[in-house]
Parts: sequence; C-alpha cells; structure tokens
Amino acid sequence: MNNAGRVSIQKLRALGGLAGVVLLTVLWLLWLLRWAPGAIPAPQPTLTILIWHWPFANRPPELPSNTCSSYGVTHCHLSTNRSLLASADAVVFHHRELQARGARLPLAERPHGQPWVWASMESPSHTRGLGRLQGIFNWVLSYRRDSDIFVPYGCLEPREGPAPPLPAKNGVAAWVVSNFQTRQRRVQLYQQLAPHLPVDVFGRANRRPLCSDCLLPTVARYLFYLAFENSQHPDYITEKFWRNALAAGAVPVVLGPPRATYEAFAPPDAFVHVDDFGSARELAAFLTGMNESQYRRYLAWRHRLRVRLLGDWRERFCAICARYPHLPRDQVYQDLQGWFQA
Ligand SMILES: *[C@@H]1O[C@H](CO)[C@@H](O)[C@H](O)[C@H]1NC(C)=O
Ligand SMILES: *[C@@H]1O[C@H](CO)[C@@H](O)[C@H](O)[C@H]1NC(C)=O
Repeated sequence: MNNAGRVSIQKLRALGGLAGVVLLTVLWLLWLLRWAPGAIPAPQPTLTILIWHWPFANRPPELPSNTCSSYGVTHCHLSTNRSLLASADAVVFHHRELQARGARLPLAERPHGQPWVWASMESPSHTRGLGRLQGIFNWVLSYRRDSDIFVPYGCLEPREGPAPPLPAKNGVAAWVVSNFQTRQRRVQLYQQLAPHLPVDVFGRANRRPLCSDCLLPTVARYLFYLAFENSQHPDYITEKFWRNALAAGAVPVVLGPPRATYEAFAPPDAFVHVDDFGSARELAAFLTGMNESQYRRYLAWRHRLRVRLLGDWRERFCAICARYPHLPRDQVYQDLQGWFQA
C-alpha cells in the first residue's frame, strides 16, 4: 500500500470516529432536552376555579388573566362567572355567605365528579350551619394545617438584606379590640392583667378606633402587642399575630392554640405565650421586668426572617391550582361539622 492509500484510510478512520462522536453528542443532547425541566414542556391545561361568592364582598375584585401568575401560580384561571359551573375544574364556596344566605347551593346543576371546595378562615366559634353541609364538599381551604388547601394568615420567610430599624418605643403594651365580651377568655385575661400592666386599648370596643393605615405605626411604638385570638382553636392564629405584632415590630403576647402550634410557624423566642405563666400577675411581672438585652432577643428573628402576610383571597384561591395535582379525588367530607368543630 502506498503512502497516499495509507493516509486516506487513516482519514476515513478519523472521519468514522468523528461521526461516532457526533452521533453520541446528538443522542446526549436529545436525552438532556428530554429530561431538562421545562425544555420540552409537558402540556399543562389551564384550570378554571369558579368562586361562587367572593368573600365578604358584593362586588368581586377584577380578576385579570395574570392574577395567579402574579402569585407564582401558572395555568390557573379564577372566575366569578357562574355560567362556568358546567365546565369549572373546581368550585369554591366561602362559608360566611353560605351561612348568611341559607346555604343555597347549585346541587342540581353540579356536574358529576366536579370537586367542590369549602373555604373559611373563621374559627369554629364563629361558624354556624355546618350541619346542613354534610356529604357535599371534597376539599377544605382553611388555616388548619390538616386542610386540603392550607392557607395560613401569614408566614416567615428568609430575609435578604438588613432588617428595617425598630420604631422608638414609648409604651408597654397595646391591644386592639372591636368585639369585647366578658365571656371571652381574652377579655377575662385582659381584666386580670390590667391592674399589673399598662395596656393601651384601641379599637371600637374602647371608642378609640384606628384607621387601617394608622394601626401598624400606632402599635409599633409599644414593646408588646396582646395578640389574643377571639377564640382558642387548633391552628387558629390570625393577623393579630402576623400583622399587628410581628410585622409591626412589637413582641406578641399570645393567647390562642398551644405553644407548640406557634413554634410550628415561628421561632420559640419570637413571642411570649400566656400559657407559660401561672397567673396574669406573673405574666405582667415578666413583661415589665425584662431588661433591654432580654427584650432584644425576642426580636432577633427579624435579622434572618421577614413576615409575609397572606391576607388576600386571590392568593388563597390560586393556591387551589398549586395543590390541585395532589388533592384526593374521591374524598367527601361526610361530617364537615365534626371535622371542623373537633
Ligand atoms: C360568563 O361566561 C359565559 C360563558 O363562557 C360568557 O358567555 C359570558 O359572557 C360571561 N359573562 C361575563 C360577565 O363575563
Ligand atoms: C438582663 O437580664 C438577664 C436575665 O435576668 C441577665 O442575665 C442579664 O445580665 C441582664 N442584662 C443586663 C444588661 O442587665
């Protein structure tokens, strides 16, 4: 074989090797594309969530098509158009309107197998008429952690950057209350505390209402905020804790579910729990006897975490879409009352 022949065979071998490498590379790229998230998007249908009554409102808010994507949930369409009953992927009924309007449900027009969602953020003490709603709903949306769609009133998330400075403090304890009834545990506790602790009471009950924009700057000037829930039930922790206290920068003194529940949501040293004390007098002595460095410990979380308030019904309803693929298909709350009032 002459030199030229030898060279061309080497070239052919090299070309063959190159072709093999190219083939393998192409196969590898195809494999990558197949498995890389989002590269070949799985077809995802848009879910339609029909809201039968918008909570606490005669007129629903505007619901533009990007409503849920602004909360990070895609392929989710919220609507209040009742003509969509036949085609909606889920229908939501907010309890307060069912309670007030005698629970008129479109049972006769309900498409077979359509999931219905019972929604409420109120405590069992302020919920009536559940006995009429047995065996109807498939999913529950509420603040209870064992809800199908769990929507707390707030949460803590990692903070990026420095915490905003604390407002100057010039009062000991603040409390905002509109419904003041002596049978409530929170009112009894206040009455026991008041002789031992200076508490400024705001709100309609004391004829010192605060406008919605005035509440946070007002309570922020106090060391403590009495985050007393109107009733004590599992997981029932409301904006009194998240907004009026934590977000304002006042240390919450909490009356509500047990300490362990609060600790599931917030660091154990971010609040003072009334159950930790044998009496109101002891609690008052602890609060008034605290020195500066002890007090600052209760606010140390602010350097790592910040409060995210989850008070918007649009965001809560968009959460149905986020949970939708994981929700049980064949579930029915045969005893909604027994479950919720437990
Ligand atoms: C409600 O939906 C129906 C059916 O899709 C549509 O014809 C109607 O225009 C909608 N109404 C409103 C007020 O958007
Ligand atoms: C604050 O109180 C704590 C607990 O009683 C104590 O250990 C600490 O030394 C006190 N700090 C100051 C600055 O007084």
